[in-house]
Amino acid sequence: MASIRSRIKGTGHSLPENLLTNKDLEKMVDTTDEWITSRTGIRERHIAAKDESLSKFAAEAGRQALEMAGVKGEELDLIILATVTMDQPIPATSCFVQDMLGAKEAAAFDMQAGCSGFVYALGVADQFIRCGTYKNVLVIGGEILTKFVDWKDRATCVLFGDGCGAVLLQAEEGEHGLLSTSLHADGAMADFITLPGGGSKIPVSHEMIDANLHTIKMKGNETFKIAVRSIEGACRDAIQKAGLSPADVRWFVPHQANTRIINAVADRLGWPPESLYLNIDRIGNTSAGSIPIALDEMVRAGKVAEGDILLFAAFGAGLTWGSALVRW
Ligand code: ACO
Repeated sequence: MASIRSRIKGTGHSLPENLLTNKDLEKMVDTTDEWITSRTGIRERHIAAKDESLSKFAAEAGRQALEMAGVKGEELDLIILATVTMDQPIPATSCFVQDMLGAKEAAAFDMQAGCSGFVYALGVADQFIRCGTYKNVLVIGGEILTKFVDWKDRATCVLFGDGCGAVLLQAEEGEHGLLSTSLHADGAMADFITLPGGGSKIPVSHEMIDANLHTIKMKGNETFKIAVRSIEGACRDAIQKAGLSPADVRWFVPHQANTRIINAVADRLGWPPESLYLNIDRIGNTSAGSIPIALDEMVRAGKVAEGDILLFAAFGAGLTWGSALVRW
C-alpha cells in the first residue's frame, strides 16, 4: 500500500516595501557596507513600517500558497505559524491569520523554535498529515524582527530583516513530498540568542526597558562556531533517514543567516555553488521566514522540477537546529 506523504502544493511570500541598505546603516551605527557584506553576505533587508505587523505578511504569504494550490481558505484543516515576533502576546497571531484567510474550519496555533521554526513546523504538520488527521495544512514562517532589535547594537542590528513565507501541505499517496526531518535542541546554550524581558521571568516594567532587556542579544561568534557542525549533522541525518546520499540533493535551501555558514556546510557535504539557493544579500536574516521565502522565489522562478530533492536546514535561538528533506 502506498504511504501518505505531505506534499507541498503551494508556496507564497510577502515582504514589507521599505528597504534598509548597508549604506543606510552606516549612518546609524559604527559599521561599513564592506564589513557587513564580507562578514554576512547581506546588502539590504526589508523593514516593516510602524503600522505593519506580522499577521499582514503571514496572511498574504498564506493567501498566495492557497491560490497556487487551488485550495480555498475554508478547506484548510490547520494553520501553524512559526515565529518569535507575534503581533501581540495573546492571542496567537495564527488566529488573526485564520480569520483573514476565512479558514473557518481550521485549527490554528503559533510555535516557537527561533530560526529553526519553519523546519520544526513542517515536522509537526507532517505528523498530522501522515497519521490521517488532516488533509490541508498551511505552514507559515516569518518575523518582524526589526521591531525587537537594538538599533544601537551594531553586532545584531545589521543582520535582521522582516518577511514571511508559506507552504500549503496536502496529504497525497506516493513518493513525492516530505521524506524525513531531523530536529534538535540544546537549552544549555539558551543564552547565546535571547530577548530576556517581557515574559513571566522579567515582566514588562519601566526598569526592564531602562535596562534594555526588551531587545535581542546574540553571542554571534559563539553561535557561528556551533552552527556549521550542527547544520551539517542535521543534514546528514535527514538524508540518511530517507535512504539517500548527499549527492542526491539537487537544492540546498538553508536558513539565510550568514553566507559563510552556508558555504562551509555546502563544502563539507560536497555541494557545488549551483545547488545552493541564496537570497541573503537582498533579504537578510528573517529567522523562521527565510526558508519559505527562498522556496517561493525558487518555485516562481521555475527553478524546481518534479522529482528534485530539496534539503531545508536551519539553526537558531534555543539553541535549536534541524533539517527537512523533500522530493518535489
Ligand atoms: N560593523 C563593524 N564591526 C562590527 C560589527 C558591525 N556591524 N559587528 C561586530 N563588529 C566587530 C566586533 O566588535 C569585533 O570587533 P573586535 O575584534 O574589535 O572585538 C569584530 O567585528 C569581530 O566580531 P565577531 O562577532 O567575532 O564577528 P564574526 O565574524 O563572528 O561575525 C556575525 C559576526 C556576523 C554575527 C557572525 O558571528 C554570525 O553570523 N553568527 C551566527 C549568527 C546566527 O547564525 N544566528 C542564528 C540565527 S539568529 C536567531 O535565531 C534569531
